[in-house]
Amino acid sequence: MRRDVQEATARENYNRLAKCYDCWSSWEKPYLDHALKLVDLTHTRNEFVLEIGCGTGYCLEQICLAGNSVTGIDISEGMVQKSIARLQRTIENPETYNIMCASAAQLPFPINAFDCVLVCFTLELFPVETIITVLGQIENVLKPGGRLVAVSMSTDDSTDQCRCCGCPMKTYRGCHSCCPNVVDCRPIPLLTLISNHAPELTPIDVEILPFYGLSVESVVCKRKKR
Ligand SMILES: C[S@@+](CC[C@H](N)C(=O)[O-])C[C@H]1O[C@@H](n2cnc3c(N)ncnc32)[C@H](O)[C@@H]1O
Repeated sequence: MRRDVQEATARENYNRLAKCYDCWSSWEKPYLDHALKLVDLTHTRNEFVLEIGCGTGYCLEQICLAGNSVTGIDISEGMVQKSIARLQRTIENPETYNIMCASAAQLPFPINAFDCVLVCFTLELFPVETIITVLGQIENVLKPGGRLVAVSMSTDDSTDQCRCCGCPMKTYRGCHSCCPNVVDCRPIPLLTLISNHAPELTPIDVEILPFYGLSVESVVCKRKKR
């Protein structure tokens, strides 16, 4: 799928989903909490944090409440509006957050702008060429020594209970092939993609978590010194 097609399709899908996204995606919550643990909010203060594909702003809100400045980008205006509404309800100082429509593949920020970049359940929507472009964009905007926390559905099947037949993965892939607009995420080899295509990012922590017979992978990386 070409990048402009992916972006137009995602914008349309997520604009439609925005109102009910939090109910529909409640299964994601434990994994988002896991991502927040990896961002390490108990030790993180006064950092500049970017979330790519911020959705309805659950992570942005938690990171901002912990005393950081957050920037969220998303391709869907509907999701951006939901995020803004969420933070307006709970964050007193509007100068501590900035949420906008933008493409993950063309981040509108200068180099070294952020201490931490978070991306959850978003990279797996992109074709591999776009994932590589997005990783390059992340390398640019992260400060030397800054962290990437990435969470995605994974091709790693080590948590699969019925590994003998691989049926959960086969079923999920079948659904993704038949209805890519509904089942838009697909499992990706997250660590391999980062290790092979983002030379400035050093993986420092990798976990594979079970996900209803499939797997979710979290990878934390450190940006090398320039
Ligand atoms: C599966 S949702 C995940 C949302 C949030 N990260 C979460 O885990 O709840 C994927 C998000 O990525 C956004 N998205 C899709 N394509 C994008 C792109 N090219 N650039 C930026 N955001 C994109 C969608 O609008 C959607 O909000």
